[in-house]
Amino acid sequence: MSMGKPLPHDSAPLHVTGAARYIDDIPVPADCLHLAFGLSHEARGVITAMNLDAVRSAPGVMRVLTAADLPGVNDISTAAHDEPLLAAGDVHYHGQPIFLVLATSHRAAREAAAKADITIEAKPALLSIDDALAARSYFEGGPLTWRRGEVAPAMAKAETIVDGRIEIGGQEHFYLEGQVSLAMPQDNGDMVLHTSTQHPTEIQHKVAEALATPFHAVRVETRRMGGGFGGKESQGNALAIACAIGAHLTGKPCKMRYDRDDDMVITGKRHDFRIAYKAGVDAKGKLVAVEFDQYVRCGWSMDLSLPVCDRAMLHADNAYWIPNIRITSHRLKTNTCSATAFRGFGGPQGMVGIERVLDHIAHRLKMDPLELRQANFYKKSRPQETPYGQPVKGFILPEMVKSLAESADYKGRKQAIARWNEKSTVLKKGIALTPVKFGISFTLTHLNQAGALVNLYADGSVTINHGGTEMGQGLNQKVAQVAAAGFGIGMEQVRITATDTGKVPNTSATAASSGSDLNGMAVKNAVDEIRDRIARFLATEAGVKPRDVVFAQGRVTAGEMDMTFAEAAKHAHENRISLSATGFYATPDISWDRAIGKGHPFFYFAYGAAITEVAIDTLTGENRILRVDILHDVGQSLNPAVDVGQIEGGYVQGAGWLTTEELVWDEKGVLRTHAPSTYKIPACSDRPDVFNVALWNGENHVPTIYRSKAVGEPPLMLGISALMALSDAVGACGDGYPHLNAPATAERVYMAAKRVQGAR
Ligand code: MTE
Ligand code: MOS
Repeated sequence: MSMGKPLPHDSAPLHVTGAARYIDDIPVPADCLHLAFGLSHEARGVITAMNLDAVRSAPGVMRVLTAADLPGVNDISTAAHDEPLLAAGDVHYHGQPIFLVLATSHRAAREAAAKADITIEAKPALLSIDDALAARSYFEGGPLTWRRGEVAPAMAKAETIVDGRIEIGGQEHFYLEGQVSLAMPQDNGDMVLHTSTQHPTEIQHKVAEALATPFHAVRVETRRMGGGFGGKESQGNALAIACAIGAHLTGKPCKMRYDRDDDMVITGKRHDFRIAYKAGVDAKGKLVAVEFDQYVRCGWSMDLSLPVCDRAMLHADNAYWIPNIRITSHRLKTNTCSATAFRGFGGPQGMVGIERVLDHIAHRLKMDPLELRQANFYKKSRPQETPYGQPVKGFILPEMVKSLAESADYKGRKQAIARWNEKSTVLKKGIALTPVKFGISFTLTHLNQAGALVNLYADGSVTINHGGTEMGQGLNQKVAQVAAAGFGIGMEQVRITATDTGKVPNTSATAASSGSDLNGMAVKNAVDEIRDRIARFLATEAGVKPRDVVFAQGRVTAGEMDMTFAEAAKHAHENRISLSATGFYATPDISWDRAIGKGHPFFYFAYGAAITEVAIDTLTGENRILRVDILHDVGQSLNPAVDVGQIEGGYVQGAGWLTTEELVWDEKGVLRTHAPSTYKIPACSDRPDVFNVALWNGENHVPTIYRSKAVGEPPLMLGISALMALSDAVGACGDGYPHLNAPATAERVYMAAKRVQGAR
């Protein structure tokens, strides 16, 4: 049985030997053209003159396109129709594509693009949250508020009130494979695209729109991405559309990949947030009222900002019962790159807000932060409702946190750290445990569906195809395990094929961590269908009931009949039984009304908890993560090896976001940290020396695929414990509360330590 086995990623040998084929590895036809964008050098303004003569006459240039030259709709947006492929008149951020060069080589295209002479009449750019607030530059006209209970009277009765705010920086995805697309024109005007995307169907739709053809004239194929992390949900649209237009106009294949610096400048990142809070607790430290204002820098276009901001609001409670709460979301429009999906999709920012509140309260009450958190957890015995009205069922966090705190000796280490901090003046240590409760499902209900196509060949080998995309998360391996288990065959008999809009249509993005939940079920349904057809046929022959036909260990038995799975497939085929089936799945039990912020948006919650221990140098602010202990809930694991990989990677990415990954825009709106030389993602050497990851032994309380749980995004939020541990270490420098902002870079840790020392 293949289910639950810790099998390596199906492409692991290919990844490590360099044989895995990414789009840049696909051999291109000799006449392939290479594309590059010419970019805006102003953050906001109007194009008053554009002289592209030098670009056109540069070596290797075949064609140069501006907005006026496009054959169809000039739009690459996901839904709002507010994002032109090429700026027409107005420019909205530094780095916005203005024209497109088609040349004989990647290099020729880039060099030519740099030769443009464009005059932009600059206008005052809204770069920061403060700029946008001052100008009341909002999407949807103004803020959105959701409430539960009565905040003002509850706050008035509170024993203790804290207020403050935290600034939370954005994050660059830093997928190892940058954005890339290849378009191949076919006969009859059809177009085939190879695209590094989490959303082949959206690419298909947007390309069709740009070429003014029906969807059926465009086919999109995605074998794998070298990382997506949300950055390839919508940010690949521009390249795919540009390539398709180029191929359409010239009849030649067109390929485009961003250079790393361009990739970082042009594409959207995680939304940066400012969260202002006010929270009241009773004499026992129980939250009675909380107010959040989430100020979000969304950038110049909508992209996915509305659902991202919704998810931030939906995670403002994290794991805690808050009887009276107001959450206001300010979706601010600025002249910066349009912020987009990033692992957790706003959830992490919302969660940092409430974790900060609890950290602040614990400091004020001189209480152990873990005890305060535990006291405020939702109750398991009688399911309490989230602020948006969904009962928190299957709430296992209290047991998980208890178990983790014991196994990692939280109490003992906390005391040891206190003793150590008393003696140590320059170096200080800190520790924190933070929990994660993350809602699983797309909040846009109709996205919670998936399709699959399973083909069984007459030699007993199987290909499976589903709407999900592989970005390193191991989705294909998990789904292959589902198929192998369904047929009772070995993994070597199952092959996953590239995601292809011609095989499975109308798919959702592989996102919201729902890839294996949705596609695993769709594949299982198709496999069950084929297996049942064979069973019914063999049952008739053997004179038994269909349910007495057994598929196991590569064999099929029906009464006296016993044959290999391959023989069964051949036999069925020769008797004209169809061995191909589609499967479909739609998540049950979900509903959501975003206008009022009420409903049951999530099928279930995934849980986790992490303890991080850090050390800081108070003279330099330099800091290290010393030890991490994680206990994470994946229900009944489909593949523990892949799941642990997701948890380790998620933690490190989350800790990177909150500690070293700092995006800096200058006063002209130019991103100054546009390469690894200035933008620091965690390196192998930053991996904590002690890094214990364990899976919670349990099963999902709702009927997901083999009772597993989604794992893609939730572990990122375990990284919040690193920020809170740093806050704890800084707090040890004096009496004041650290008010540490994120990312807690060495500079910020240093400044916070100074402030706290000043408060002594
Ligand atoms: N893991 C790897 N290795 N690479 C990625 O790009 N993306 C994350 C997560 N884990 C990602 C990853 C994000 S943002 C999501 S939504 C999920 O994987 C998507 O895949 P799943 O739904 O199959 O978990
Ligand atoms: Mo993930 S941010 O939902 O692609």
